[in-house]
Order: sequence, then C-alpha cells, then structure tokens
Amino acid sequence: MKIIRTVRAMQQVCRDARRTATLGLVPTMGALHDGHLSLIRRASGENDVVAASIFVNPLQFGPNEDLEKYPRTFEDDCAQLEREGVAILFAPSPDEMYPQTNGQKPQTMIDPGAIATRLDGAYRPGHFVGVATVVAKLFHIIQPDRAYFGQKDAVQLAVLRQIVRDLDFDLELIACPLVRDKDGLALSSRNRYLSAEDRKTALILSRTLIAMQDDIRKGIRDSHRLCRQPHLLREADESFKLEYLCIVDPNTLLPVSEAVPGALVAIAARVGETRLIDNFLVAEVGP
Ligand code: PAJ
Repeated sequence: MKIIRTVRAMQQVCRDARRTATLGLVPTMGALHDGHLSLIRRASGENDVVAASIFVNPLQFGPNEDLEKYPRTFEDDCAQLEREGVAILFAPSPDEMYPQTNGQKPQTMIDPGAIATRLDGAYRPGHFVGVATVVAKLFHIIQPDRAYFGQKDAVQLAVLRQIVRDLDFDLELIACPLVRDKDGLALSSRNRYLSAEDRKTALILSRTLIAMQDDIRKGIRDSHRLCRQPHLLREADESFKLEYLCIVDPNTLLPVSEAVPGALVAIAARVGETRLIDNFLVAEVGP
C-alpha cells in the first residue's frame, strides 16, 4: 500500500491509476472498525483499485467538540487497510489540506445550505460545511469513479448527495449498510469513549429503533405516534440526553407525517459526554 502525504503526489498517483483502472474511494477519519472495513470491501468488489483516506478534518469539529481527543490509531489502521488490499492511502496533515491558513478555516468553503442545518446540523453548527468542503477537496484531488459512504451517517449522505448533484461531480456515490456490534450498538469510532456503564445506556438508541420497527410492522405509520417511545423515558437516566428522534425524507431531511417505505427514522443522543447517532430506513413493503 502506498501511503501518500501530499496533495500533489496523490493527484499524480490517482491520475496514473485512472488511466488503466477504475478507482474507488473510501474517505475516513481513521480509528477504523468493521463499519469502515465494510465500505472498503464493497469498494474492492466494484473497482480495480481502492484508495482510502485518513484525515481527522479540523473543519468539521465545533469549538467544544472532540478534535483533540478524537482517536488516532494510524499504525493499526494501516495494517487493516493493507490486509483488505487497499492500494493507495491518502493521509495528509491539516497544513497540507489547508495550507493557506495553517490548518485553520480556508477562505473557500462549500456551504450546502438549508440541508446542513437539519437534524445533526442543528446540533453541530458548521459541521456539514466542514464535511462538504473536505469531501469536495478529496473528490477533486482523487477524482474517483465511485465513492463509498455509510448509511450510519444518514444526514452526511443526504448532504453529500446534494453536493454531488449541485456541483456536478462526475462520480457515483454509493451508500453502504449500517454495521452494528453484536449487542446492536451501531459501530462508531466514538464508541471507544464509552465506559461500560455508558455502553449499556447507549443501547437505548438501537432498542428504540427496534421498537419503532416493530410498531411499523404492526401497521402503525403515524410519525408522531411512532416517535413517542416509552423506552426512552423508562430507561433513560440523566446520562442519556435525547437530541432528536424523527422520521424524515432521506434526501431532503424534512419531516414526513407517515413512516412510508424509504423514510429515514433517525435518532441522536448524548450518553455522558459522547454524542451517538443511529437510524434505519423503513423497509419497502413486500409483494
Ligand atoms: P468516519 O466517521 O471515519 O466515517 C467514515 C465512513 O465510514 C463514513 O462514510 C461513515 O458513514 C462510515 N461508517 C462509520 N460507521 C459505520 C457503520 N457502523 N456502518 C457503516 N458505515 C459506517 O464520516 C466521516 O468519517 C467523515 O465525516 C468524512 C466523510 C471522512 C469526512 O471527513
């Protein structure tokens, strides 16, 4: 696996690769787990060459968020990527990505507009401007045929679908299924922050979604009724703070009154200091 630290070198290597091969990209912030690896495997199956990136993007962290303590496990990540057959790893420094500003905010940023203020965007102001900007830069540098993102970050996916459309990126955006731990908790690099006690509390997210899925299967479709989940109130103590539980259109992120097939059911909560998200898409009704 080639490990590349500069934009120039990455442009060159990817230009060469694209001459004879299809190129799949999996952007990450490292601290890799099976969720990330599922994206890599999907990309390997669909492209001749896979490039991954590891970059903890300062632009997408708020002033009181976890940029400093975000887990960094570079050696271990490289070993995992190598095992999965990744050919190219782009791992730039903040100065390399944002050189004009010593790793601080650049002048030119991509603002996805209203969609970036919905759901997580409402709780993390500026977050999706940071995500859109770094992902647009990665797309320009690497120019992949396909780029792979997890359904785990459903709001991020909606924002990225919009920027691909609005800015005419010539690539296919592929959404990959959410990967869970054995106990149901959605895998996340931030799960490392959870104490044993927090981890139990964190299961309220997935259990709430399972209860809603059951209700939907029973025929309940009304969004307000579905979102009144007694579990949350019964089990939650002061270490669990719900931010949102809602049913929205997965492309616009605007609320829908009924859990129609394809609707996105999404939840976010703080467990202690850790912010967690989870979601599912309402299944299409069978024949
Ligand atoms: P990161 O949180 O490292 O996630 C990288 C990719 O892995 C994202 O597309 C995310 O949705 C996916 N992923 C994370 N957990 C997953 C899970 N449990 N199941 C399936 N996929 C999962 O998302 C980011 O980094 C950044 O915002 C980034 C897009 C790299 C821009 O900086």
